[in-house]
Amino acid sequence: MEELYYPNRTEAKNARVKNICEYNELVARATEDFEGYWDQLAKEKISWFKPYNQVLDESNAPFYKWFVGGKLNASYQCIDRHLDSRKNKAAIIFEGELGDKQIITYRELYHRVNKTANLLKNRFGVKKGDRVVIYMPMIPEAAISMLACARIGAIHSVVFGGFSAEALRDRIVDAEAKVVMTADGAYRRGKPYLLKPLVDEALSQKCETVKSVIIVERNKSDIKWVAGRDFAYAELVENESPFCEPEEMDSEDPLFLLYTSGSTGKPKGVQHSTAGYMLHAHTTMENVFDVRENDTYWSTADVGWITGHTYIVYGPLSMGATTIMFEGVPVYPDAGRWWKMIEEYQVNQFYTAPTAIRLLHKTGANEPKKYNLSSLRVLGTVGEPINPEAWLWYYNEIGGGKCPIVDTWWQTETGGHMITPLPFATPIKPASATLPLPGIFAEIIDENGNKMPVGEKGLLCITKPWPSMIRTIWGDPERYKKSYFGDAKKDGKPVYFSGDGAMYDERGYITITGRVDDVINVSGHRLGTAEIESAIAKHLHVAEVAVVGRPDEIKGESVFAYIVLKNEDSFGEDVELLKEVNKIINSEIGALAKCDSIIIVSALPKTRSGKIMRRLLRAIAKGENITQDISTLEDPAVVQRIVDKFNK
Ligand code: WTA
Repeated sequence: MEELYYPNRTEAKNARVKNICEYNELVARATEDFEGYWDQLAKEKISWFKPYNQVLDESNAPFYKWFVGGKLNASYQCIDRHLDSRKNKAAIIFEGELGDKQIITYRELYHRVNKTANLLKNRFGVKKGDRVVIYMPMIPEAAISMLACARIGAIHSVVFGGFSAEALRDRIVDAEAKVVMTADGAYRRGKPYLLKPLVDEALSQKCETVKSVIIVERNKSDIKWVAGRDFAYAELVENESPFCEPEEMDSEDPLFLLYTSGSTGKPKGVQHSTAGYMLHAHTTMENVFDVRENDTYWSTADVGWITGHTYIVYGPLSMGATTIMFEGVPVYPDAGRWWKMIEEYQVNQFYTAPTAIRLLHKTGANEPKKYNLSSLRVLGTVGEPINPEAWLWYYNEIGGGKCPIVDTWWQTETGGHMITPLPFATPIKPASATLPLPGIFAEIIDENGNKMPVGEKGLLCITKPWPSMIRTIWGDPERYKKSYFGDAKKDGKPVYFSGDGAMYDERGYITITGRVDDVINVSGHRLGTAEIESAIAKHLHVAEVAVVGRPDEIKGESVFAYIVLKNEDSFGEDVELLKEVNKIINSEIGALAKCDSIIIVSALPKTRSGKIMRRLLRAIAKGENITQDISTLEDPAVVQRIVDKFNK
């Protein structure tokens, strides 16, 4: 058996969960009295306006309801209740790409959120249940806007600033948003860039529901203003009152939508609840990062992704922590920027993505040595499998061999951590997410629902509901059922399919092996191959296309496309076609879905019923030997032709 890394005993004495026995006790308690376990946490951790009368309603599974009848407000939970004890504590520490800084105390956050809430409510008529799209860079106003929506009961839908106008439009249309909050632009790699023109382009078609655009002037760029529709945030917000009563929200009222890619079709608007989501954000923040009162916690994620929602905004603020928000990239002005910030702010918990660790290891292996990183106590990773080499570099060079790494497995749909070590309780193993959190029932099973033996890959499933789970797909409950719940049942309950493959080791530790569906993970960004394919198919000369992920040293996976042309001679050079294809991807989705290489083939391998054999294409792209049975293919010779072309 591989060696484990054990937590430091002295540190463990002060931790929330101090050893593996305590972890086991919590698991036992959650197993014996599932609802009682969550009930106790909900009572302790949430500031209720009105108590709930039922912990879990399973009568309409898989449309579960948690803490039925309870009333609360997420912004109250994140701000108001801290004002007595923490009013002058830093809630958000912001650092811009160019080094500009802001320290926002809880008191100041309260005022800024309230003013923004009043602005939305009084000036723009945003009411409870209305949708507000937030398309912003990593600036404090992004978090403030989210909390302002939560305060008045509006449902926010944050769209990652790297998405194109087209992708933004799709999300606006699907959510029927009333207001878009954005910025003129921001800074990346030390240079200003523009965001607002993409909003203009998005709104130029099919977005009739949007009545107003509120613009934060981040880099004072020269942008076009549409009279009657566009408003400058700073000017208006100053006139609003700094007090706004928080709306009484039902436990199950939606807190936000966050669009994410599935294996088919358009992105799904993952709908999260208020109480269940807040509860899990809060407790995982406490237990998994072990944040203490005077700590400084930093997640490098973007608020456009679920990690930014749960572990930059809602989780840290709910527990009254200090959370850092950083606008920029890890390599500007050099690959020591993050380590410099850790030294400067005396960061105690640091949470980032494996792709960033690999990049910084490759481009700046000596940088960490230049800084004092001794304040660090817990390191975390998220978003994709981490390879042992990157894990060890992170452990030794960043953590100085003394910080546990919490390799947290979870998804947009799960709302918060699901499988992860507890930093001072769980002995860790490189590249393993280890064990499910207490109260989370994860199992690796085969297609018939049987538990997988040690060392064999199976499907990662969750067999009981949990408070922060996705409630539905916005406007499409049927798709929710179909996407996540098959026919399999455990103890009569539907089983949630994560779409990930995983494996047990002899200890029962779980290692995630990656997606088993047509979703790929590029630099921790989740992308649907179907979306990229439909973009590429818009190219005039493309007859057919299949996109797969290909292993990449830094990005984890890169986008690889097999293309069949309408007329094979239309393009001599694949390089030219690649450029054109990327132009389309850029405008349909965004640069994050950029195709790294393409191969022009004469035909795609298909079954006799016309289904593309993607498994085969994935294997070829990985350079694996073809061991699958290809006799069922319509034309088995196609495979050899592709392999030959690939090897050329
Ligand atoms: C992958 C991000 C391995 C996984 C929070 C999952 C991981 C998808 C890990 C969700 C991890 C996330 N180890 N793989 N620790 N964490 N993933 O919705 O494939 O952007 O299904 O949520 O990321 O991506 P999403």
